[in-house]
Amino acid sequence: MADKGGRGRLLFFPLPLQGHVTPMLQLAEIFYSKGFSITIIHTRYNSPNPSSYPNFTFLPISDGFSEKKTSELSIFALASILNVNCLDPFKDCLTDLLSGESKVHTTCLISDTVLHFTREVAESFKLPRFVLRTSGVGVFRAFAAIPLLREKGYLPIQASRLEEPVPELPPLRVKDLPVINVPNAEMFYQLIAGLVNEARTSSGVIFNSFEELEQSAVAAVRQEFPTPIFPVGPFHQYFPSASSSLVQPDETSISWLDKQAPKSVIYVSFGSIAAVKENEFLEIAWGLANCKHPFLWVIRPGSIHGSQWLESLPSGFLDMVGERGHIVKWAPQLEVLAHPAVGAFWTHNGWNSTLESICAGVPMICMPCFTDQFVIARYVTHVWKVGVQLDNGLERKTIVEVIRKLMDNEEGEEIRNRVVDFKEKANVSLRHGGSSHGTLENLISCISSS
Ligand code: UDX
Repeated sequence: MADKGGRGRLLFFPLPLQGHVTPMLQLAEIFYSKGFSITIIHTRYNSPNPSSYPNFTFLPISDGFSEKKTSELSIFALASILNVNCLDPFKDCLTDLLSGESKVHTTCLISDTVLHFTREVAESFKLPRFVLRTSGVGVFRAFAAIPLLREKGYLPIQASRLEEPVPELPPLRVKDLPVINVPNAEMFYQLIAGLVNEARTSSGVIFNSFEELEQSAVAAVRQEFPTPIFPVGPFHQYFPSASSSLVQPDETSISWLDKQAPKSVIYVSFGSIAAVKENEFLEIAWGLANCKHPFLWVIRPGSIHGSQWLESLPSGFLDMVGERGHIVKWAPQLEVLAHPAVGAFWTHNGWNSTLESICAGVPMICMPCFTDQFVIARYVTHVWKVGVQLDNGLERKTIVEVIRKLMDNEEGEEIRNRVVDFKEKANVSLRHGGSSHGTLENLISCISSS
C-alpha cells in the first residue's frame, strides 16, 4: 500500500442526502486505504460528522438553506436549488484550495452525478472530474433511455398501460419505469437528463455495484455509453467503516434482536426519504400484527403523511403485539441485516438498502416508492429472484400472504438460497482476481494518469 496521501489528493463532493453521502464516504475510505489524501467538500445542510473520519479534511460550503426551508422541499427541488446555490461557493472553495497548493497535488474531483454545477467549475480549473452514480447500473441505463421512452409514448405513464412490457429495457414493465409523481414532471426530466449528461462528460462513472450482479446492464452501458464505467462495489464490504449515518441509530434494535430466534424477524425500513400515506401505514401495521412473525420496524418521524410519529398507529396496537414488535426511529441497518435473527427485509429498494441486503444474504419484500426503486425492485424479483414484490395495492391480507411465502414456504427457501449465492459472489468480486478488485485497480490507474 502506498503512503497515506502519497498518491495525491482527491476531492469528494456528495449530494447531502443519506443514500448519497454514505456511498461517497465509503468510496473516500477505499481511496484513502489506497494511499490518497482525502478532502470532502460538503454543504452545511446534512453535513457529515468530521469526527467519524479523523483522516479526512472537511470543507463546508454555503448552500443558502435554512433547515426550515429544506424540510418543506421535495428532494428534486432540493437538488435543483443546490445546483444554483452552490456554484459560486464551490468556485471560491476551489480557488482557495488550488491556489494555496504546495505540498499535496490535487489529482481529481469525484462528485455526485446530481450536482451538475461541479462540471463547469471543475472545467474552469482544468481539474479532471469523475462522478459517482449512487444507484445501480441498470437504473442508469433506464435513466439514459428517458428521452427515447418519452418519444415512444411510454412516458408520461398512462394508467391503462401499466402492465405492458417495455421491450427496449427488459425486464421492465411500464409501471417499473424510473419516474416520480411530482407536480412539475419537466423539472424531473431535466434533472435526470442533467445527471446523465454529467456522467457522459466526466472522465469516468463510478458505480457502487459489481459485475456479477449487473452483468448485462454493465455490458449494455459499456456498449451504449462513451464514458468508461467502473463498478467497484459493494463499497460497504471493503472494511468495517466509520458510521456515515446522519442520524443516531437506536442500539436497542440489536439488544431486541438478540432475544429472537434465528431467521425469524422481518426487518422493515423504507430508507431516509420515502413516506407513506396514513391508510398505507395502517395496512402495514395490521399486516405485521397479523403475520405472527417478530418484526423490527423503522418509523422515521415525519415518514407518515400528516403524522409526527406514531399517532396514527391503531389504538391498542403496541399492547397487542407486545414484545413481538420493536419500533425505532432509525436503526444501525448494517448490523441489523448481519444479525442471525433477521429472516427478511421489507424494503423500499433504495439502492444502498438493496445492496446491503444482498451482501448480508437476506431476502427482500419489495415495496418500491419512487424513481429508481421501481427498477431495482423489478431486478430483485425478476432478474436476481432474491425477493417478492408487494404488488397491486397495500392490503393487510396480501402483506400476510407475501410474508408467509417468503418466511414459511419452500419458495422462500429457494429465494434465500439465491440471495446467499449473490452474497458469496459479492465477496468474490472484491478479492484478488475478482471483477471489482480489478476494476478498482483500473480506476486508480485512470485517476492517477488523469
Ligand atoms: C435514496 C434512494 O432511494 C436510493 O435509491 C438512491 O440510490 C440513493 O438515495 P434512500 O431512499 O435513503 O436513498 O435509500 P437507500 O439507498 O436504501 O439508503 C438508505 C441508507 O440509510 C442505507 O445505507 C441504510 O443502511 C441507511 N439506514 C436506513 C440506516 O442506517 N438506518 C435506518 O434505519 C434506515
